[in-house]
Amino acid sequence: MSSGKESRYALILAAGKGTRFRSDLPKVLHRLCGRPMIEYLLETLSATGIDRIFVVVGPGDDPVRQALQGRHLDFVVQERQLGTGHAVQCAVAALSGLEGSLLVLYGDTPFVEPQALERLIQEREELDADQTLLTIELEDPTGYGRIIRDQSGRVVEVIEEKEASPVQKRIREIHAGFNCFKIPALREAVFEIRNENQAGEYYLTDLPKIFAARGGRVEAVLHEPSMSLLGINDRVQLSEADRILRRRIRDAWMSKGVTMINADTILIDSTVEIGADSVLYPGAILEGRTSIASACTIGPGCHLVDAIIEAGARLDGYCIVRDSRIGAGSFVGPFAHLRQNAAVGERCRVGNFVEVKQSSLGDETKAAHLSYLGDARIGSEVNIGAGTITCNYDGLRKHQTQIGDGAFVGSGSQLVAPVRIGRDAYVAAGSTITEDVPDGALGLARQRQIVKPGWAAERRRKCQDEK
Ligand code: UD1
Ligand code: CA
Repeated sequence: MSSGKESRYALILAAGKGTRFRSDLPKVLHRLCGRPMIEYLLETLSATGIDRIFVVVGPGDDPVRQALQGRHLDFVVQERQLGTGHAVQCAVAALSGLEGSLLVLYGDTPFVEPQALERLIQEREELDADQTLLTIELEDPTGYGRIIRDQSGRVVEVIEEKEASPVQKRIREIHAGFNCFKIPALREAVFEIRNENQAGEYYLTDLPKIFAARGGRVEAVLHEPSMSLLGINDRVQLSEADRILRRRIRDAWMSKGVTMINADTILIDSTVEIGADSVLYPGAILEGRTSIASACTIGPGCHLVDAIIEAGARLDGYCIVRDSRIGAGSFVGPFAHLRQNAAVGERCRVGNFVEVKQSSLGDETKAAHLSYLGDARIGSEVNIGAGTITCNYDGLRKHQTQIGDGAFVGSGSQLVAPVRIGRDAYVAAGSTITEDVPDGALGLARQRQIVKPGWAAERRRKCQDEK
């Protein structure tokens, strides 16, 4: 019987080259809903109560190792990728002295649920089996290892696609790629794996046959049909998995009180947070560490990357917000572009075709139309007229613009930085401001207008004469 106290370890195989991905990036680092696929597996394991996690990676400065730096993991190096069986052989030294259960997982099956792993471990412990493996019946088993059972129904062998006879290929029960081993038994058997097969690979899936020959015990745990067990071997499967996961993410947020219009068109990374009573319009894309508070509106086609949207803010259509913050109750867009630490205060208005870069706007400030605000510190209750431009770049360096609380910048002004517009100061429309405007002053920097009465009629007459 299960003691419930046996030690539990996990080994993730993540050294494969991902030949079918045709990529320089290791397969398990390809992203699903904004995160490397291997991270999902690590998260699931942390919910499964595992004592230690080992990860098999490639040699040297392996990108997988780099990507997982700082986590509590033990890395095992597989110098050359000679197959899943070989990967486990490489890990044996690291397992020396350990007893209990070892889950062996493939880094390219990210969606498995903790319950499925739990069941695999429990079953192994209770039966004191050498190996338990998860199986599933598929309509189309192509590509997976097929489960061979004897007359009494015992698993005696797993046959890889490349080795299977036409009759075996018709078997629909497959090896889903989740195994649990009794560690001492694994240690004894794993080096019996040979690579004398079509692929010249060391197959981990040779182990059931090896255990059977040694009189050991292998048990299959048949799982109900589920997308959560499928492997990701190429970019088509990656895209399919991404689609499935995004649906799950949307459904989860909807169940927490988020409204989505035409939800299928909305893309939300797994790292995003959204508050209740927020409404997302079609085509919204929310990526990275984006966090949306409650009762916000994200209009159609908005693209948010690492954006912070505070309570009740509204984004009209087609805004792009990157690494920036929008304060509570502000109204932004349509077609606004906020980037590089733009910080919009509360109850602000940032209107159409306004770009804000590395600038802050105090509360209740308005920039309603057609502006570029870069490297500017703008106070509260400021009015930035249509077409105002901060001229922040002199061709070599960027310079700061400062605008005090309550200032009024007339339309079509250019503020040539570095420059300071004082508190409650005015800038006359159409000014090119090159010198500071003190608090409460008016800055006026444009040609005085000339009016010539009757000029138009005179010109017309001249043109007639010339004909
Ligand atoms: C594997 C199984 C197959 C199962 C399927 C389930 C084997 C031989 N086959 O096939 O029975 O139905 O998964 O999804 O195990 N890896 C290494 N080092 C290596 C080779 C692979 O670390 O030398 C890693 C890869 O990064 C990958 C995982 O092992 O994450 C699985 O390898 P993969 O080549 O995808 O195996 P499949 O052909 O899918
Ligand atoms: Ca695979």
